[in-house]
Amino acid sequence: MKLLSFFVVLMFFTTAARFCHATRSRFSGSREKVEVMKHLNRLNKPPVQSIKSPDGDIIDCVHISNQPAFDHPFLKNHTIQTRPNYRPNWINDDNIKVSSIKDPSKHESLSEKQETITQLWQLNGKCSKGTIPIRRTKKEDILRASSVKRYGKKSSFSTVAQPSSIDPDIINQNGHQHAIAYTEGQFYGAKATMNVWNPKVEQSNEFSLSQIWILGGSFASDLNSIEAGWQVSPDLYGDNNTRLFTYWTSDAYEATGCYNLMCSGFIQTNNEIAIGGSISPLSQFHGSQYDITILIWKDPEEGNWWMQFGNGKVLGYWPAKLFSYLADSASLIEWGGEVVNTASNGQHTTTQMGSGQFPDEGFSKASYFRNIQVVDESNSLKNPKDINTFTEQPNCYDVQMASNSNWGSHFYYGGPGQNPNCP
Ligand SMILES: *[C@@H]1O[C@H](CO)[C@@H](O)[C@H](O)[C@H]1NC(C)=O
Ligand SMILES: *[C@@H]1O[C@H](CO)[C@@H](O)[C@H](O)[C@H]1NC(C)=O
Repeated sequence: MKLLSFFVVLMFFTTAARFCHATRSRFSGSREKVEVMKHLNRLNKPPVQSIKSPDGDIIDCVHISNQPAFDHPFLKNHTIQTRPNYRPNWINDDNIKVSSIKDPSKHESLSEKQETITQLWQLNGKCSKGTIPIRRTKKEDILRASSVKRYGKKSSFSTVAQPSSIDPDIINQNGHQHAIAYTEGQFYGAKATMNVWNPKVEQSNEFSLSQIWILGGSFASDLNSIEAGWQVSPDLYGDNNTRLFTYWTSDAYEATGCYNLMCSGFIQTNNEIAIGGSISPLSQFHGSQYDITILIWKDPEEGNWWMQFGNGKVLGYWPAKLFSYLADSASLIEWGGEVVNTASNGQHTTTQMGSGQFPDEGFSKASYFRNIQVVDESNSLKNPKDINTFTEQPNCYDVQMASNSNWGSHFYYGGPGQNPNCP
């Protein structure tokens, strides 16, 4: 009798152990645990002060010279530029941060009721001058990644929309879908004002984003890319919030680059905006519309790529040294949306792009990019000469270009994903 119960207990423990092993998966070993802790220590620099955001984030105010960028071997002796050496006069020409705007087709004022962009964490504090706000990486954030090494990086299967490629099957392989406008040439910057929404993302390993791409090189393994915009990415952040993000890579998403400050590279100079922080308020269907303006341009003296968010808020820069092609200039600019469709149940997922509505729905229903512009060889901000659109499956997500005096070159884009025409 005793022996029997001993065996029952033993069996219970063996099964439990196996079960635990399966659920804890790849991070269960003690070597992996040490790796995770080491990575956390590398990423999370000792803060001067920490602020708890209502969305659960912790924002660390880290001394500017202590930020992750300076771990980069190329940047060991780098002297921080606190501002671009050369500021063309078009840099501060817009006074709209997040605007609550009216229907452009009715010729009403663009910024009837101006509101300042808030990031949720700003409700609970400020980082003092000389420090920068960094979203703290938690252990869970890393555990959601496929490996410690891949944390904060796009999947190595990522592709940028390749408008000049004519084989949609190749583009579609990995489930990345785009609805974009693009222009080819020689560029030193790009700008746009983008509508901000909270698209639904069905699976946690999918995402939905809207952004500017500044690209250089071929679409082979040497692609250089600088990216910025807003995204919903459950695996990256552990929630479905709409967040401000940046990305860079100098080798087509393989070994270099990452989102936000999740690796060394981008140098932040601004003490008000946390890259990766949640954006608020968001646009409502048939309700108030909000948008953010992003400008990325190359300082002709130092060669660094700077980013400005909203009205004169210079966030920081990507040092020219990080790049090969972009150390010189960009050859392709793209604006628009990207989602991942995992087709998890053998069907297109219901992950939305933009507002989740097709472009022909128009203002306050479909999402838009307005006043899209490029910086040309003469260092002027101009409307792009030739602008084209591209989407892999217009029945899932589409894009529609237009132009008028208020909004310059603009487009509506997005869609619902799965629907009767996108099974
Ligand atoms: C940084 O400076 C040190 C001391 O001057 C020098 O030995 C080192 O090679 C420099 N590193 C880089 C990457 O320039
Ligand atoms: C995010 O949204 C998906 C789909 O609507 C939902 O299933 C999931 O629970 C949400 N995740 C979080 C962390 O709120």
